[in-house]
Amino acid sequence: MHKLIILRYAQNKITLVGTLMVLITGLTMVVVLGLEAMTGASNPYSGIFVFMVLPPILFFGLLLIPIGVFRRWRRRKRPASEVTVRWPRIDLNLPDHRRTLILVSMGSLVFIILSIMGSYQAFHHTESVEFCGQTCHTVMKPEFVAYQNSPHARVPCTDCHVGAGAGWYAKSKLAGAYQVYAVATNKYPRPIRTPIKNLRPAQETCEQCHWPERFFGAQQRQFNHFMYDEENSPWSINMLIKTGGGDPKTGQTSGIHWHMNISMKVEYIPRDERRQEIPWVRITDRRTGRVTTYQDEENPLTEEEIEAATPRIMDCMDCHNRPSHTYSSPDHAIDQAILTGRIDRDLPEIKRVATELMAAEYETEDEALHATANGILSFYLNEYPDIHENRGGSIENAVLATQQAFSQNIFPEMKVRWSAYPDNIGHFINPGCMRCHLGNHKSDDGRKITNDCNACHTILSQGSGEDLQMAETQDGLEFVHPEDIDEAWREYGCFECHLGTQP
Ligand code: HEC
Ligand code: HEC
Ligand code: HEC
Ligand code: HEC
Ligand code: HEC
Ligand code: HEC
Repeated sequence: MHKLIILRYAQNKITLVGTLMVLITGLTMVVVLGLEAMTGASNPYSGIFVFMVLPPILFFGLLLIPIGVFRRWRRRKRPASEVTVRWPRIDLNLPDHRRTLILVSMGSLVFIILSIMGSYQAFHHTESVEFCGQTCHTVMKPEFVAYQNSPHARVPCTDCHVGAGAGWYAKSKLAGAYQVYAVATNKYPRPIRTPIKNLRPAQETCEQCHWPERFFGAQQRQFNHFMYDEENSPWSINMLIKTGGGDPKTGQTSGIHWHMNISMKVEYIPRDERRQEIPWVRITDRRTGRVTTYQDEENPLTEEEIEAATPRIMDCMDCHNRPSHTYSSPDHAIDQAILTGRIDRDLPEIKRVATELMAAEYETEDEALHATANGILSFYLNEYPDIHENRGGSIENAVLATQQAFSQNIFPEMKVRWSAYPDNIGHFINPGCMRCHLGNHKSDDGRKITNDCNACHTILSQGSGEDLQMAETQDGLEFVHPEDIDEAWREYGCFECHLGTQP
């Protein structure tokens, strides 16, 4: 049989090694992908292996094949007339050359198609929720767990964190390369620092799905609390929150989403990196050009500080900074567990005991889970032996629910807890709105940013049982603090006493 010349030159060690590398990696890829397709299971590490580790080996193998052939050709025995020829001559009139050329082009074509498909898969893989959330197991665990319990659990990480287009893709992969290095060398910060500096502006993220012109009207919300007394007494507050918003064209531009009014620009200068202290706010009416600057009377910025700063334009994320990674405080998480019946409300003092155990500092999640179980069991054994004897099932449920509350919200390995990432919506355990609305921000002409309790919401009902009060008019009720603290709730922000645990 007539042999192709190229095959004659292919018999060399380099080409052989290359071919073996291609065969082995190719086969491994097919087997891993085949298994995943058949079982339907997929694992973030197999993705990294198939799309990131194997391809370079495959490419290297593929490269070795022609290199081997070429070297062999250069060293062939040749007639004296050809000694000066450095490159092969291709003569398509020779059948041998024709066939070789067809073989090589077909091979290259298949190779190009496969690598396009591969890169496309790799692109998709690195954009998947699995890849972002589970590859670096411990590092992304808090974000991934909280994300799964959030209203955005079906929105891919990349919709918020990586923009569309090649520019953002490259940027995020460059940052990603550094992150891989930081994880490999254990150099990443715990907790991961926020605010995230290179998060895109809201126009390119949130506003793809929620547009600021939309008018929301008011939303009714019920806040359910349980007190730290023996009976775990309930206390609920039912409010109408004036979300508002709207398009200046239709005239409806009121309520909380006023800040996002397209015809207004709200800018501010924070004192700290986490933007929790805001001594300086400026609003510009884009229609009239009117500018008003408000400053914290008690603790204003100096002229130099203002000169040196670049004001930040307020956007969705200045209030909704935890749209998908909400770490509930122990106070809130235990309230939820009691409300939904996972903890029986008639277990005496359970709100206090469970909250305390959840809020304590632990080195690892395991340690926390053990301490929680021991803490609850020994509390009832020592303080309420009767209950310990007869309500074993209830106590066990309380242990499980407290452990679950812990695992979903606190991540000791990453030092992530509610206090590490303040939530800027509201003002109950973090300053949130009160960063500007505490009543001490004044403009030059003497106006104040409102601190009126009814500016943002009206209370429809509050309390419970015999203490329940219902509003009789549209103006709602005046707030009543469940525990007698005199007028302290007017003088201080709620967040100054309510820190997410027992006040
Ligand atoms: C709805 C939009 C949205 C989605 C979806 C989303 N994030 Fe976030 N993420 C944010 C915002 C907003 C922040 C906070 C930015 C700030 O405070 O500066 C954030 C913060 C983070 C942080 C910084 C640490 C922290 O907890 O604040 C990490 C890490 C992170 N996200 C990872 C992920 C991962 C992994 C996924 C997918 C499993 C994901 N995100 C999905 C919007 C989102
Ligand atoms: C890919 C689309 C998408 C993007 C991007 C997105 N969201 Fe959402 N968002 C949704 C959907 C869908 C819901 C409704 C979920 C539901 O009703 O359970 C929602 C719900 C919400 C809610 C109401 C939550 C609640 O408690 O009911 C808020 C607030 C919100 N998003 C803010 C944001 C912010 C802030 C961003 C930007 C960081 C953002 N969203 C980005 C799709 C998106
Ligand atoms: C000044 C703070 C603030 C800003 C800025 C802000 N929001 Fe809100 N938003 C709120 C509050 C407060 C609520 C009421 C719900 C609550 O208390 O959680 C709300 C409610 C929402 C809801 C839920 C409405 C519903 O019907 O469930 C969505 C969606 C939302 N905001 C999206 C956005 C988007 C998108 C932006 C940016 C264009 C934005 N918000 C800017 C404070 C703000
Ligand atoms: C960066 C500072 C800042 C933050 C943070 C902030 N606001 Fe405001 N807010 C302002 C300023 C400035 C005004 C306008 C005051 C004026 O000139 O009337 C305003 C006005 C309002 C108004 C009145 C709108 C109208 O109809 O006139 C409401 C309601 C409001 N804010 C709610 C909130 C809520 C709720 C939050 C927290 C989720 C919040 N704000 C957070 C600065 C802020
Ligand atoms: C600048 C707007 C604003 C002002 C002023 C304001 N609130 Fe609120 N308040 C909010 C928002 C927004 C929430 C909802 C937070 C959420 O959705 O979690 C809230 C929540 C609450 C809650 C429920 C908290 C919880 O978790 O149980 C109470 C009670 C409350 N406010 C009382 C008051 C009282 C009393 C005042 C006056 C001293 C006041 N608020 C002033 C915006 C405001
Ligand atoms: C001076 C400190 C202080 C301030 C300020 C304060 N509280 Fe309280 N609050 C307490 C104490 C103490 C309790 C009693 C704890 C218990 O036994 O349940 C309490 C209990 C509560 C409870 C019952 C459930 C629970 O978590 O214990 C609610 C609801 C509440 N406060 C809301 C508010 C709101 C809303 C504000 C702001 C408008 C506020 N508080 C301001 C000290 C304070």
